[in-house]
Amino acid sequence: MKGMKRYAIGGMGGLCAMALIGLFLSACSTLQRTVTLPPEIEGATFVGNKVCMDCHTNIARAFPASPHARFHKDDPKWAGISGCESCHGQGSRHVAAGGGRNSLIVNPGKDPTTCFNCHLEVHAEFRLPQHHPVVEGRMNCVQCHDPHGRDIMKPARGLAMARLNESCATCHRDQARSFVFEHEAMREGCTVCHAPHGGVNRKMLIQPDNNLCLRCHAEIQHRPGDGLILGKFDHSSNARGRTCWAAGCHSAVHGSNINSRLHY
Ligand code: HEC
Ligand code: HEC
Ligand code: HEC
Ligand code: HEC
Ligand code: HEC
Ligand code: HEC
Ligand code: HEC
Repeated sequence: MKGMKRYAIGGMGGLCAMALIGLFLSACSTLQRTVTLPPEIEGATFVGNKVCMDCHTNIARAFPASPHARFHKDDPKWAGISGCESCHGQGSRHVAAGGGRNSLIVNPGKDPTTCFNCHLEVHAEFRLPQHHPVVEGRMNCVQCHDPHGRDIMKPARGLAMARLNESCATCHRDQARSFVFEHEAMREGCTVCHAPHGGVNRKMLIQPDNNLCLRCHAEIQHRPGDGLILGKFDHSSNARGRTCWAAGCHSAVHGSNINSRLHY
């Protein structure tokens, strides 16, 4: 297996050399930061995507459209870098056994370690003080990402509001349901205000204070001596030492059935 490891690193180098000639520049920078090894399966070797295709036809057919298949090559030489086996580990023993659900192949739907091998920054995000409980094993990447298909973000990025917030909505119905008085910010998706993996602020907000709101509500008039004027109202005393979404203010940030100014 030692030889195999060296081989995997050599392969990465080759990939970045390709990027130097301008082909896959952005991806190369990702890989340089994250040069790593596929999961190791005791005694097994790489077989390449073509072999997987024999039995997992639907997945193998969808896969070339995935961002992970950018370097997709049927040549087994690439298997540990971009192919099925970069996430699932060396496949020869799984194949020889005729497949099956056992320890001969890695299923990262159960354990995200494989994903963290390459996505170091994402791992760091999940270790910030406020985070979705992925490292704790209570959630998994595949609840928000489709590992094989074209739409790796699931519908968290997209067009219509319903689709945009769909993956979050499966677990957070209260925030994602429709309201009589909608907050238009929701049309840009939950991630305009929340960091999806984790962050330092409470409730994974991307900003801890009123700047969260002022990014969009820029109808402020800053004349010397003026306070914080939003629309027709001087918010100077309201907003002092309080968040815009404090109780009694615009606390219904996700939408309200009662009040167009987004109160409860
Ligand atoms: C000879 C047919 C065959 C080949 C070739 C094959 N598989 Fe499988 N694989 C199976 C079968 C059968 C199952 C279990 C059936 C099921 O539940 O879907 C399975 C299950 C799996 C699982 C789920 C394991 C689990 O514990 O949840 C993964 C992942 C997997 N295969 C990946 C691969 C990869 C990657 C390749 C190529 C390296 C590959 N397979 C090649 C037949 C095959
Ligand atoms: C980016 C990493 C990644 C790559 C590359 C990848 N997979 Fe997967 N695969 C996963 C994850 C994550 C799961 C778990 C999905 C889930 O639980 O919904 C999975 C699950 C599977 C399963 C089990 C499906 C089931 O019903 O339990 C099979 C079979 C499989 N992959 C085959 C493949 C094949 C074949 C390829 C290449 C064409 C491939 N995978 C490429 C990450 C990957
Ligand atoms: C072998 C390294 C490797 C592994 C393992 C890996 N990824 Fe990736 N992933 C990449 C690279 C490289 C890209 C960037 C591809 C590109 O630029 O098109 C990427 C892209 C992504 C993206 C899309 C980023 C974007 O901005 O579009 C997501 C989401 C993602 N990976 C999730 C996962 C998940 C979930 C797993 C585990 C199931 C995983 N990755 C495993 C290397 C890897
Ligand atoms: C709660 C849902 C959720 C979970 C769980 C999740 N992601 Fe994400 N992820 C997202 C969303 C939403 C985005 C898009 C962020 C954006 O567009 O600002 C994203 C973006 C990404 C990206 C590209 C941008 C970046 O931050 O680098 C990668 C890579 C990624 N996720 C990997 C992973 C991996 C690996 C896991 C599991 C360890 C995971 N994600 C778990 C929702 C999630
Ligand atoms: C598979 C279910 C699931 C999905 C999908 C999901 N979440 Fe979560 N979310 C959770 C769990 C579990 C917690 C932690 C709750 C706890 O620890 O009590 C959480 C916590 C949160 C919190 C903090 C809540 C609090 O009271 O501290 C926010 C904000 C959040 N999620 C936003 C999102 C966003 C935005 C998305 C989509 C990108 C998303 N979630 C997708 C399950 C999910
Ligand atoms: C305009 C900004 C904004 C948008 C967009 C947004 N949120 Fe929030 N969210 C907040 C604020 C502010 C809080 C309250 C934080 C606090 O209590 O300090 C919050 C709180 C939460 C909480 C904790 C429970 C609660 O209601 O206080 C969850 C869960 C949550 N949001 C999920 C989501 C989901 C899912 C989406 C997308 C459907 C979303 N949010 C979109 C700003 C936003
Ligand atoms: C992504 C942009 C965006 C963000 C971030 C945002 N909003 Fe909004 N908000 C809008 C838009 C667009 C409207 C509808 C047009 C308008 O009234 O300005 C709106 C409307 C409102 C309204 C109703 C105004 C009225 O007069 O009916 C309130 C109240 C409000 N937002 C509060 C907040 C609060 C509080 C925050 C921070 C938690 C916030 N917004 C963050 C875009 C945003």
